[in-house]
Amino acid sequence: MGYAEFYRRSIDAPDAFWVEQARLIDWHEPPRRICDDSRPPFTRWFVGGTTNLCHNAVDRHLRDRPDQPALIWVSTETDGERVYSFRELHAEVNRTAAMLKSLGVGKGDRVLIYMPMIPEAAFAMLACARIGAIHSVVFGGFASVSLASRIEDAEPKAIVSADGGSRAGKVIAYKPLLDEAIRLSRYKPQAVLLADRGLAPMERVAGRDHDWAPLREKHLDAQVPCEWLQSTDVSYTIYTSGTTGRPKGVQRDVGGYAVALAASMELIFQGRAGETYFSTSDIGWVVGHSYIVYGPLIAGMSTIMYEGLPIRPDAGIWWQLVEKYKVTVMFSAPTAVRVLKKQDPAFLKKYDLSSLRGLFLAGEPLDEPTARWIGDGLGVPIVDNYWQTESGWPILTIANGVEPKPAKLGSPGVPMYGYKVKILHESTGEELVRPNEKGVVVIEGPTPPGFMQTVWRDDERFVRTYWESIPGKQVYSTFDWGIRDEDGYFYILGRTDDVINVAGHRLGTREIEESISSHPGVAEVAVVGVADPMKGQVAMAFAIPKDSAVLGDAAAALKLEGDVMKVVDQQLGAVARPSRVRFVSLLPKTRSGKLLRRAIQAVCEGRDPGDLTTIEDPSALQQIKDLFNP
Ligand code: PRX
Repeated sequence: MGYAEFYRRSIDAPDAFWVEQARLIDWHEPPRRICDDSRPPFTRWFVGGTTNLCHNAVDRHLRDRPDQPALIWVSTETDGERVYSFRELHAEVNRTAAMLKSLGVGKGDRVLIYMPMIPEAAFAMLACARIGAIHSVVFGGFASVSLASRIEDAEPKAIVSADGGSRAGKVIAYKPLLDEAIRLSRYKPQAVLLADRGLAPMERVAGRDHDWAPLREKHLDAQVPCEWLQSTDVSYTIYTSGTTGRPKGVQRDVGGYAVALAASMELIFQGRAGETYFSTSDIGWVVGHSYIVYGPLIAGMSTIMYEGLPIRPDAGIWWQLVEKYKVTVMFSAPTAVRVLKKQDPAFLKKYDLSSLRGLFLAGEPLDEPTARWIGDGLGVPIVDNYWQTESGWPILTIANGVEPKPAKLGSPGVPMYGYKVKILHESTGEELVRPNEKGVVVIEGPTPPGFMQTVWRDDERFVRTYWESIPGKQVYSTFDWGIRDEDGYFYILGRTDDVINVAGHRLGTREIEESISSHPGVAEVAVVGVADPMKGQVAMAFAIPKDSAVLGDAAAALKLEGDVMKVVDQQLGAVARPSRVRFVSLLPKTRSGKLLRRAIQAVCEGRDPGDLTTIEDPSALQQIKDLFNP
């Protein structure tokens, strides 16, 4: 069957289509109803079915592949390498599940995981899945204020963390950040479980903090059965940024997610049991959830978890791992490839990459020179794929597992099975059907399995934010601009909201603004994303200092800029640090007081700021222009 027909069937007969995909996983009880969309925009998949993500990722492979590597952990930061077979992974997950239970964690309780890229992080995720606890992994690069807001929203009974992580050989102590986050949060967790890597000193809070290693010793022989969960129960939440400063808890189910991942492994990634998958992402991001931990393991593949940079000890490290572990499917982000592109291309030829069948890239636009460079260098197909934290798996790409289709440079591809993707006019809601008309990329309900169920504890916010942003139409907005060409290939042209994408990391400019505003020397601030050849975008801040003397004093401005950056580092983490903080006496606003962020962004990128008839004082924009063209 060709892809066009395959896709049509997924849209016209979704129940028949997905019931077939549902056979890819183990069910304890089969679903009674495939798709329940009786209460739009909420969609429930495989209703009445019971299953478990950990069973599908671990236990079910004990029969056929107990000694095959399941988790391959490599750290070039601490010089570590460990391979866990499915049998060993099973044992560790059972121990971790028993540890969590001993700390009072049960079904439906939340567990926040704030961890570096170490095996314990994967054990903790799978252990939660096993006992029906809802995990919420927070990216280790975030700092105390980001962490505190997530603790408050998730209300975790326990937090799993570690003494520290390491980046480029520099240790980042996690525990002080965690303690500060718990201090800032109105909600306090009952227990904290700490993996001690011997990287950074840790202070323990008696009665609350527990060390991983001694507690594990007490549960060496633990056998904790998988909790059979409703397909529609919550498996996890993951926080992501949007237009407001408050991150949203993207909530996912159990059965739909398992089926969606299993299907994508076959139809999109073509990863087969027994082979090795290598995703260079981090467990703190959605790619890490879907394609470091759950997807490959559900498919019976070995998965590589890599702690380190792509260029340390040298730019051959990834390819060395591909050779050593015979990686067949690889997943990364364009930014990482652009980093490699600055290194000696001979590294691409140094190792035997004959096992590799494809490199999937996502998270930000893939520019043509980068795609060409890596494609030519590796000699394997480069597959751009577009999706979001909210979707959990690709929305647009090429399903080579169904029918190989030529990719078009610059386009992530065509809608994946199950996704009704449209382009609508942002203010009239009219569907744009002619080729190359720019509009908002939207998805019509019912959304496919794996897609977010709702915003954690806030159905109203889910509906209001995602489904009511286009006038007169109840459709899911991706908040991305896009066009579709005459052959049906989509092109993504950037966000419609205040989200920016720095080196593949999704950040909210409002969160950064809130953090900068907390500095006593700052009266007001605007943060915009500005195009950057390496990182895709960088955050640029324009602030009005409380003390206007700063404006005429270069040394004072430099000092304040450094101080503001430190505040962002401490509160949100270095990932959110703006590349520059520039000081102005006035910010461009409309007469009704709305910040003209788009105009600022345009000026920073040397583009025409467009219609400025509503601007209150044009000299504000002139100041920013002058900063860029002195
Ligand atoms: O703007 C789009 C961009 O990243 C956003 C989603 O980021 P996140 O929630 O972190 O999920 C990443 C999952 C891979 C999107 O709204 N984006 C993602 N992939 C692409 C992309 N932009 C262009 N091309 C892509 N392939």
